[in-house]
Amino acid sequence: MTLWWAMRKVRHQIALPEAPALRPTAPPGPSWRRLTGRIACHSRWAISLARNLLASRRLPVIQPATFREYRIGGLDPDDLPGIRVLHRNLRGRADMTLWRRWLYRLRGPSLLIVVKNRSGEAVGFEMFYFETSGARGGVIHAAFIGVAPQYRNVGIATAMHRLSIRHFSAAGLSAITARVREDHPVSLRSAKACSFRIAKTIPGRDGIATLELIRQLDSSCDRTPGQ
Ligand SMILES: CC(C)(COP(=O)(O)OP(=O)(O)OC[C@H]1O[C@@H](n2cnc3c(N)ncnc32)[C@H](O)[C@@H]1OP(=O)(O)O)[C@@H](O)C(=O)NCCC(=O)NCCS
Repeated sequence: MTLWWAMRKVRHQIALPEAPALRPTAPPGPSWRRLTGRIACHSRWAISLARNLLASRRLPVIQPATFREYRIGGLDPDDLPGIRVLHRNLRGRADMTLWRRWLYRLRGPSLLIVVKNRSGEAVGFEMFYFETSGARGGVIHAAFIGVAPQYRNVGIATAMHRLSIRHFSAAGLSAITARVREDHPVSLRSAKACSFRIAKTIPGRDGIATLELIRQLDSSCDRTPGQ
């Protein structure tokens, strides 16, 4: 009896080893997908930046011009913060992507046109880059053109198009492309006024097509007055 009682006591004192706690293993859920998505995106940006730095290495600086009381010319990299503010205001708060900021910091004087008013404030800009398909054939793409609301409808966008045509044809490029949504008649009108023609119509998911525009360049473009 005493032995039985002693064995029972010992059995109760022996602590059973605790079962190891189950560690939650991270499922390949959204955070992994976000991370891989970010890596893919940054790699694409690095490739775009490298392609553009290479393709634009021999482009000259945009020669300054005047239009009415405005000064038009290539970006002074010191003005980039102001252009970013204008970009956000004109593109639904969207910031200029990181690789483009680097591109324009390094090549802005040749690739980004800025319009300034009398007090030196940037009131409009047009930015260009080489898409994958265009880099080798000398085709540059107009990524965005914008004019501050209070300066619109006096011809500033058209003046920027004309300066870009002169600049890129003098640099020996073969064409400028642009994309415009069908429901944006103002953009289309100023592009057509500068002899852009519709190369392709891409149907949109929302029922509104995007028009691919092209302006061929030749040596006459940089001499023709008013172009
Ligand atoms: C599109 C935009 C750049 C045009 O700038 P702008 O300096 O006002 O353009 P322009 O003064 O050179 O005018 C271009 C043509 O559109 C016409 N136009 C300009 N504003 C207009 C308006 N509100 N209604 C009708 N026609 C208009 C001009 O009369 C001109 O036509 P014309 O050459 O036959 O006379 C400007 O409206 C803008 O910044 N919009 C917001 C950003 C945007 O949508 N960018 C385009 C996407 S890439």
